[in-house]
Amino acid sequence: MRSITAFLAKTSHALGGSVAILMLSTAMINSVAAADTETTYNNSCAACHDSGALNAPKKGDSAKWQQLKQQKGLPALINSVKGGMIQMPAGGLCDSCSDDDYRKLIDYMSK
Ligand code: HEC
Repeated sequence: MRSITAFLAKTSHALGGSVAILMLSTAMINSVAAADTETTYNNSCAACHDSGALNAPKKGDSAKWQQLKQQKGLPALINSVKGGMIQMPAGGLCDSCSDDDYRKLIDYMSK
C-alpha cells in the first residue's frame, strides 16, 4: 500500500512537471518569434554567412541579396538551401526549418 501511494505521488508529480514544461514552451514560441530567427541564424547559418566563408553571400550585404532575389527569386533561394549547394550542406545546418523559416532567415540575412 505504501509503495502504491509513493508511485501515485511520483506519477502526478511527473505529470504536473510536464504540463508546466508544455505551458512554458508554448509561451516561449509565442513570444520570441523574431528572436528565434536570429537564434536559428546564429546556430545554423552564421558560421558561413557572417564572414562570407567559402564565398557565401554575407549577412548584411543587401546589394548581393537583392541581386540574388531578382535573378533567382525567393522560392529558388529557399530550394537552394533545402537541397544544398556546392559548398552549402542541405538545409544549412538547420534540421527543423520549414520553408517559412528559410524565408525569414533569408530576409534576416538581407538586412
Ligand atoms: C557550411 C557553410 C554554410 C552554411 C552553414 C550555410 N550556408 Fe548558405 N551558402 C553557403 C555558400 C558557400 C553559399 C554560396 C553558394 C555555394 O557555393 O554553395 C551559400 C548560399 C546561400 C544562399 C543563396 C542560394 C542561391 O541560390 O544562390 C542562400 C539563400 C543561403 N545560402 C541560405 C542559408 C541559410 C538560410 C542557412 C542556414 C539555415 C545557410 N545558408 C547555411 C554556405 C553555407
